[in-house]
Amino acid sequence: MRAVTYGRYGPPEVLRLRDVERPTPKDDEALVRVRATSATRSDCGRRSAEYFVSRLLLGIFRPREGTIGLEFAGEVESVGKAVTELVVGDPVFGIGSGTNAEYVCVEESEPVARIPDGMTFEEAASVADGALSAMSLLRQAGVETGDRVLVYGASGSIGVGGVQVAKHLGAHVTAVCNTPNVDLVRSLGADEVIDYLKDDFTRNGETYDVVFDAVGKHAFLRCRRSVASDGTYITTDPGLMWHDAVVALISRRARLGIVRYEKQDLLTLAELLQAGAYRPVIDRTYPLEAVVEAHRYVETHQKTGSVVLTVS
Ligand SMILES: NC(=O)c1ccc[n+]([C@@H]2O[C@H](COP(=O)([O-])OP(=O)(O)OC[C@H]3O[C@@H](n4cnc5c(N)ncnc54)[C@H](OP(=O)(O)O)[C@@H]3O)[C@@H](O)[C@H]2O)c1
Repeated sequence: MRAVTYGRYGPPEVLRLRDVERPTPKDDEALVRVRATSATRSDCGRRSAEYFVSRLLLGIFRPREGTIGLEFAGEVESVGKAVTELVVGDPVFGIGSGTNAEYVCVEESEPVARIPDGMTFEEAASVADGALSAMSLLRQAGVETGDRVLVYGASGSIGVGGVQVAKHLGAHVTAVCNTPNVDLVRSLGADEVIDYLKDDFTRNGETYDVVFDAVGKHAFLRCRRSVASDGTYITTDPGLMWHDAVVALISRRARLGIVRYEKQDLLTLAELLQAGAYRPVIDRTYPLEAVVEAHRYVETHQKTGSVVLTVS
């Protein structure tokens, strides 16, 4: 089968589409024939080892596994003998490892679920990372019904997840984005939208129960006056997190957010999608063969929602 691989850390050009051995599912795994996958900021982070700490997990000098990709959507091709819920032929989506490939093995207990009726593989491959990251981080921030939540960077993949998940949790959502994305973000359910080119939310006198920096560009020190005295600030950016680790020693309002992809969250997402209460946002779609170009685009930090890779 063909899979995207990389033998060293570096720019998008280190990625290669190569023939590799097709994986064989273990007893508790399903083999999925991938129809669509994606290029995410996490994939770019793994590929470039942007944060040195990632090398502790992936390999100090070179990546140990050498495959890439988190999100997938496709059909179950075969199952191990201990698999009880997934059935051959099921259309499924979720989060895995090395998913920029024609086939991937996924554990049944990991985030994998049936694709809701009427969704395309491309749509299904675009939603899990942003939505599950937002669910994980908003849960850590303790969002409750009626809370005032501000989502900064509301047009990125975690941002569009943050707006929609916070609405699902019953929050009053203020989204912050750039002028071209105001209508999109409002259509996702934001109660208020602040265009950061025109207004500075840190100077509007409002305070929020949760300030969620979904794009990793707004440090706690810059927005601490907007966080209610018993409120919480949380960010997606590992660099800002270390910075905020120091701040957190001083202020109990800054949280170190660590994303955990939970199967239960994917099942909740599937229900929301089925009910029309969550909308995928896809910026661009590339064929798997154009993965280098896709990574170059993701690294502009300008994508709106997700970048999908189709697998023919
Ligand atoms: N490095 C890693 O390993 C890693 C892994 C996972 C997640 N993360 C963190 O997760 C964050 C979110 O990922 P993502 O995929 O959701 O991001 P993303 O989709 O790449 O975010 C892009 C969006 O953010 C907006 N944006 C860019 N700069 C902004 C700014 N200064 N203020 C407000 N909005 C801005 C852009 O629109 P406009 O510019 O038009 O406003 C664009 O719509 C990343 O930024 C990163 O910090 C990092």
